[in-house]
Amino acid sequence: MHSFVNRANVLLTLAVTILAIMCAAASISDTFNSPSPTATIEVANIHKFQKVSSGNDEIAMVLNISADLQSLFTWNTKQVFVFVAAEYETKKHVLNQLSLWDTIIESKEKAKFSVSISNKYRFTDQGSNLRGKEFNLTLHWHVMPKTGKMFADKIVLSGYRLPEQYKR
Ligand SMILES: *[C@@H]1O[C@H](CO)[C@@H](O)[C@H](O)[C@H]1NC(C)=O
Ligand SMILES: *[C@@H]1O[C@H](CO)[C@@H](O)[C@H](O)[C@H]1NC(C)=O
Repeated sequence: MHSFVNRANVLLTLAVTILAIMCAAASISDTFNSPSPTATIEVANIHKFQKVSSGNDEIAMVLNISADLQSLFTWNTKQVFVFVAAEYETKKHVLNQLSLWDTIIESKEKAKFSVSISNKYRFTDQGSNLRGKEFNLTLHWHVMPKTGKMFADKIVLSGYRLPEQYKR
């Protein structure tokens, strides 16, 4: 009886050790994989740009987003959380970041996509600073691995500018 328990313990320890080694190897091999995602984002249309009753500027726009994030996927990738944000500077804040759209990608096949979307979250400024404002559109990703640490990075696309005039 005693020796049976012992042997079971040894087996269990061995199994746990192998699992630990496999997990470590998985995260290490992931570290050596240097992904090279690409993205382009076009402002296809700004169909609303106005000052709402609160005094804040509000925008409704259509973005055409094309991205190839397939290189983020390895056998150790569980899923990738992606979001597109507008980033701009105002007198009050060096960085204003507004998330406009997000998605979860669960497979490599779906990691290459082209979508035409309206902003899912409000593009509102805390004030009326947006006329003629230059802004960046950034595509951020958070890679959730099956084992190991999550990692995040982004692509910054710059050179966008909002119209000088409000529009309904
Ligand atoms: C954006 O995508 C839509 C739908 O695919 C297309 O009709 C439109 O021409 C595109 N606009 C730009 C500016 O690429
Ligand atoms: C926009 O992108 C440019 C170029 O990467 C950068 O120099 C600038 O600081 C960015 N602006 C904001 C508000 O993040």
